[in-house]
Amino acid sequence: MRHSQGLAEQARLVSIVRTATTASKDFGDLKYWLTDLAITQLASSQQNAAAAKARLDEDLKAIAAFHSEGVAAIGREVDTLTELARRAGEAYSGDDSAEGNVLLAQARSRILNIDDEIDKVVARVEQQALAGRDASARQAERVVNLSIIGGMVALALALGLTAFIVRSITVPLKRLEGSMAAITRGELDVEIPQASAHEIGAMTKTLGMLRDSLIERDHLERERRRADAEIRSARDAAEAALRELKAAQANLIQAEKMASLGQLTAGIAHEIKNPLNFVNNFSAVSAELIYELQDALRGADLDGKLRTEIGEITDTLRGNLEKIVQHGKRADGIVKNMLLHSRHGSGESRRVDINALVEESLNLAYHGARAEKPGFNITLERAFDPAAGEAVLFPQEITRVLLNLISNGFYAATKRKAEASAGYEPTVVAATRNLGDSIEIRIRDNGTGISSEAKEKMFDPFFTTKPAGEGTGLGLSLSYDIIVKQHGGSIEVETQPDEFTEFRIILPRTAGSLSGSGGRT
Ligand SMILES: Nc1ncnc2c1ncn2[C@@H]1O[C@H](COP(=O)(O)OP(=O)(O)O)[C@@H](O)[C@H]1O
Ligand SMILES: [Mg+2]
Repeated sequence: MRHSQGLAEQARLVSIVRTATTASKDFGDLKYWLTDLAITQLASSQQNAAAAKARLDEDLKAIAAFHSEGVAAIGREVDTLTELARRAGEAYSGDDSAEGNVLLAQARSRILNIDDEIDKVVARVEQQALAGRDASARQAERVVNLSIIGGMVALALALGLTAFIVRSITVPLKRLEGSMAAITRGELDVEIPQASAHEIGAMTKTLGMLRDSLIERDHLERERRRADAEIRSARDAAEAALRELKAAQANLIQAEKMASLGQLTAGIAHEIKNPLNFVNNFSAVSAELIYELQDALRGADLDGKLRTEIGEITDTLRGNLEKIVQHGKRADGIVKNMLLHSRHGSGESRRVDINALVEESLNLAYHGARAEKPGFNITLERAFDPAAGEAVLFPQEITRVLLNLISNGFYAATKRKAEASAGYEPTVVAATRNLGDSIEIRIRDNGTGISSEAKEKMFDPFFTTKPAGEGTGLGLSLSYDIIVKQHGGSIEVETQPDEFTEFRIILPRTAGSLSGSGGRT
């Protein structure tokens, strides 16, 4: 700003110097034409003098602002000179050349003064211009110097500031980078550097928020997993409860069915027993009578043809009656089995050794089977718990159950042997186990196994898969009654078709006393 002012001032001074020089030249014109006019009195000289005067006035006016006193003095001298020239011209015109010469001499002295004044003004203007130029030059030099220093200072400041900014960015960035890497590795407990106000501060805050949101996310995830686990275990518990409920319900239904079927069976058996007794007794007696009839006829006088005919008829009659006796006995056996459901004549309850009871049942079943089928053979295994101990129960009834289970096992194993390959060894295993307040008896065979349809119905009375004459279908239904109803125990089956069947009985040690002889409902 100051520099440009200096330049403008410089330009103004240069212009004034030029004007002052012009003024000196214009005054040269004026003094020539005034002198010429004074002597010649020519109109053209007057015009030229007037023009030079006008130019000089113009020049002086321009310089006046710069050097008013000098210019004013020059103006006055010029006016006097003009007046002296005019009077000299008049004197020459009036042929007063002496007066004219005096006036012209005075005019010349004025001209010297004016030249002198103008020179002084020019010199002064020039001097000022030079001083101004020097000042400007110095000013410019100072400005240059200042700008160099300023530039250097600015450069130093810029370098310092840059270093500071770079440091203020890189140091927090380094720390942030460390924190980010740690968070990426999953170390959510990492220290996050202190936040400040600038962009790095904002980034730091953002990183903090990111870490917090990740921690929150992890927390929510853990919560969700826990809730899931709780829901799962609650659901499992509910399902288990439902399964137990269903099993209990099935047991209840089974028990109810058994009870009503048992009653029905017992009723029917009673009804059938008497007429069946008639049939059996009278058929047996009638068979005897046929023998007697044949004896009597032997002594009678009959012709050969009639004798033969009678003989054939009585033979057929005797054969029929024997069949009636035989099948009547079978029916009687069924009815007796049915009546066992009504618990008549099941003996007394007493304390017995369980292992001895099971051993006795095994022997009875084995010899019974051999008596029925002479070629029968099977491997018998015992896995008795020496600590099985004693229990109070109805021994005849439990023996009946065990006999049925063992002979069912014999049947299944023998049946499988008839179908299976050579390496197959039919086996029945009897096992006991002390359960403290109760005793476990297991009868296992490696026979045919039981299909799931048969498994559902096997405890029903009269359910059998055996051919007529070989099974009554009452064994398991009776066993269920004895174990569950009479002894307050349980009977379960586990089976795998073509692999094995295992019955598991649990008897309380003292439950036998709960339900006495004939205690059936
Ligand atoms: N150990 C076993 N192996 C295979 N099936 C068996 C076994 N025990 C019982 N069963 C099946 O259960 C049915 C009913 O048995 P049960 O009540 O004793 O009557 P039964 O022996 O007179 O047929 C049998 O016919 C048979 O189908
Ligand atoms: Mg049976």
